[in-house]
Amino acid sequence: MQQGYLETTRNVYKEAAESPNVGLCCTTTPVWQLPGLSIPKRMLEMNYGCGSTVNPRDLVNNPKILYVGVGGGMELLQFAYFSRQKGGVTGVDIVTEMLEASKQNFVEAEKQNPWFRSGFINLVKGDALQLPVKDNSIDVAAQNCLFNIFKQEDLKKALQEMYRVLKPRGRLVLSDPTCEQKMPENLYEDERLRAFCLSGSLPLRDYIRMITDVGFGTVEIRAKRPYRILDPVNYKTDELIFIESVEVCAIKDTMPADGPCVFTGRTAIYYGIEECFDDEKGHVLLPNQPLAVCDKTAGALKSLNRNDIFISESNYFYDGGGCC
Ligand SMILES: C[S@@+](CC[C@H](N)C(=O)[O-])C[C@H]1O[C@@H](n2cnc3c(N)ncnc32)[C@H](O)[C@@H]1O
Repeated sequence: MQQGYLETTRNVYKEAAESPNVGLCCTTTPVWQLPGLSIPKRMLEMNYGCGSTVNPRDLVNNPKILYVGVGGGMELLQFAYFSRQKGGVTGVDIVTEMLEASKQNFVEAEKQNPWFRSGFINLVKGDALQLPVKDNSIDVAAQNCLFNIFKQEDLKKALQEMYRVLKPRGRLVLSDPTCEQKMPENLYEDERLRAFCLSGSLPLRDYIRMITDVGFGTVEIRAKRPYRILDPVNYKTDELIFIESVEVCAIKDTMPADGPCVFTGRTAIYYGIEECFDDEKGHVLLPNQPLAVCDKTAGALKSLNRNDIFISESNYFYDGGGCC
């Protein structure tokens, strides 16, 4: 049964490799403009992602990078921009035609970017559900707009595979649509709509739970943006469905005994009369200095019911720092 939608997905991306479909995954995320980086037109037309997984902060100390679901290769080129070493980025895709199209795009990229060599990228045919990659060998593993297509059992496998190949402390960077409304069954089961990244999305909370359930001890929500709507005129739905896209980083570190640390952009601000507030669990709040806290810590501090600690709500824009 499940084989059906995976096969439909492969066919959709075979078509998308052979004739670029500009509207396939509409992204509101601006494409990275970086000094000396020129992205070939065809590669831009094959931007089938819904956000960005490239963050310079993840890319210090010559990381080994894995990118699953290559599309036209744009993000691999952006990763290579920072990595600039032979085989520094490995791209895995199950669709031969997509691998071939991205290979051609890299040849064009080489002409437009004097710093770039196609050899910086190692393209490998393989399945996200069974990665052709060694255990504990990758520092940064990324995927953009592929995992939302997977039904939950397959999503679990795909996440387990990413977890397996990452080194301890390695980072999984994801960009995917999420949806807080219940997807109508007919849309959920529509294999092409699912392959187009439109009907497989989970609510953010469930998506995060899938990630932490495979063992990632820390999760950062880096961005959340409007993505698409499914409206009753154009889709078989009675109510309008709003889909967002998120950028998430999950770190393969030890799972804390009291559960994962999920950062959604919340902060704690102490405004009392003491020099500081120390919860004796590793969180020291200095007066009037926002400290980024994970949701677990935000909840614990809130439950103290103090009138000198303010906890800000999630803004889904966590960009580092904090307590855990
Ligand atoms: C929505 S596109 C995203 C492409 C790219 N990440 C981007 O942002 O432009 C999904 C990609 O995943 C590939 N793909 C589909 N099923 C796959 C699987 N089971 N394993 C690996 N890649 C897969 C498709 O060929 C396609 O390149």
